[in-house]
Amino acid sequence: MTAVDDPVLVVDFGAQYARLIARRVREAHVYSEIVPPTLTAAEIAARRPRGIVLSGGPKSVYDSPAPSVDPAVYELGVPILGICYGAQLLTAQLGGTVTRTGRGEYGRTRLTLSAPSPLFPDWPAETEVWMSHADSITAAPPGFATTAHSPEAPVAALHDEGRRIYGVQFHPEVAHTERGAELFEHFLYDVCGSPADWTHVSIIESQVEAVRAQVGTAGVLCALSGGVDSAVAAALVHKAVGDQLTCVFVDTGLMRAGEAEQVEATFRRQFRVDLVHVKAADRFFDALAGVTDPELKRKIVGELFIRIFEEVARDLGARGGEGPRFLVQGTLYPDVIESGTGEAASIKSHHNVGGLPADLDFELVEPLRLLFKDEVRAVGEELGLPHDLVWRQPFPGPGLAVRIVGEVTRERAAILRAADAVVVEEIRRAGLYRELWQSFAVLPAVRTVGVMGDGRTYAYPIVLRAVTSDDAMTADWARLPYDLVERIASRIIGEVDGVNRVALDVTSKPPGTIEWE
Ligand code: XMP
Repeated sequence: MTAVDDPVLVVDFGAQYARLIARRVREAHVYSEIVPPTLTAAEIAARRPRGIVLSGGPKSVYDSPAPSVDPAVYELGVPILGICYGAQLLTAQLGGTVTRTGRGEYGRTRLTLSAPSPLFPDWPAETEVWMSHADSITAAPPGFATTAHSPEAPVAALHDEGRRIYGVQFHPEVAHTERGAELFEHFLYDVCGSPADWTHVSIIESQVEAVRAQVGTAGVLCALSGGVDSAVAAALVHKAVGDQLTCVFVDTGLMRAGEAEQVEATFRRQFRVDLVHVKAADRFFDALAGVTDPELKRKIVGELFIRIFEEVARDLGARGGEGPRFLVQGTLYPDVIESGTGEAASIKSHHNVGGLPADLDFELVEPLRLLFKDEVRAVGEELGLPHDLVWRQPFPGPGLAVRIVGEVTRERAAILRAADAVVVEEIRRAGLYRELWQSFAVLPAVRTVGVMGDGRTYAYPIVLRAVTSDDAMTADWARLPYDLVERIASRIIGEVDGVNRVALDVTSKPPGTIEWE
């Protein structure tokens, strides 16, 4: 994905703050990008930003070293909004005073307006805002007016209207600040004069053009995983270059119920994409026979996937002509930010089965590399991908292999897939599917005694795992309603041969992980 002109640049003094601000700006339909504080004013000017936001961050301007911006940024004539640490930094750099008062404010705080500001032209004299600061601005820099205060922040908002430099001590980017979204809109539309032109339609148009410009008439290959990112990337590239795209779907036999059928229905029948569907379940089950070590399972699945993908790429080359030169990768903006450089991210290789090795000789096409996940989903809907696919919960690359404890066999995969389908169906029916980060079935490597009808059974239990989470780094077990748990359990036991018991996993992460292996 190529850069977009005239961004609002969010200078990153603390990743979570910057990310949230960037998202809020985009929600106001203005394109934003996160940049490191090390950029010089000249580098910032070269991006021709519409505005600059200095983010909050965990440091104090008194720390040594304290992150800073090139002071020449204040001379560019570009509107600047400093938030929390950003406001304190601009105060300190422009000759005001930041004091360690020993009396910070954390959480909901009453803000009292003291002078008109274009950031909040129609707020009542008192508003609830969210604060999180130890240091306070105690004197605005020369030329600045104080526009609001709070019990412990004598300068909770300030500006120099002539230079279009603004600061707020509170956090307009968090939902707890009642009218925070409006503040961004006023800054973006009224102060920066930016049009609201970053929409899902404009994203698609600009990326379609960018993909066409990048690939010309060459062939493009895309590995579909059944997940959201690869599907949206493929649909976008297909819109751009049509028949030049070939998609490869490797059915490992370890997918969720209906996944292969949905890929077929969506890509072959709806979009009429040239789809190579490799039915490779036998090869995966053969390779996994007798293997019980979780990491070894991951490795086997990942390596076999790559081998099969290479075979397909070679075959396509052999079909005539040169074969595909480009490879579509569903890299998202958070991956780009994490790589730190903002430069071309190397092929995602971490534990994702979709990750392909760098020695495959392709140039990457990354049509989603400037998008957040929610934008990817919106683009997917706009492109006409099925709702179910676009809102699918995350699924591990190695698939059901990491949810089958012990040996992965065709029979055990079939049991788990059937049980998992019941979980997904009932969770959806209860209206909880999107609220939960993940909800799925796990097959342990034990069997338990039961009694069904007149007979004694000796069969597998299924573990029901449902978690809430924002980012999978931490997670809490979901408090599913008991009647839903009961419905899931009785359906699984009644409908899935080989299962006679259902248990509920009530472990959070940490200390547990989300997956069982
Ligand atoms: P854990 O189990 O570590 O999972 O709490 C965190 C998130 O990562 C997903 N996950 C994987 N994804 N390949 C993947 O592509 C893997 O091997 C893998 N293992 C875990 C998991 O589903 C959860 O969302």
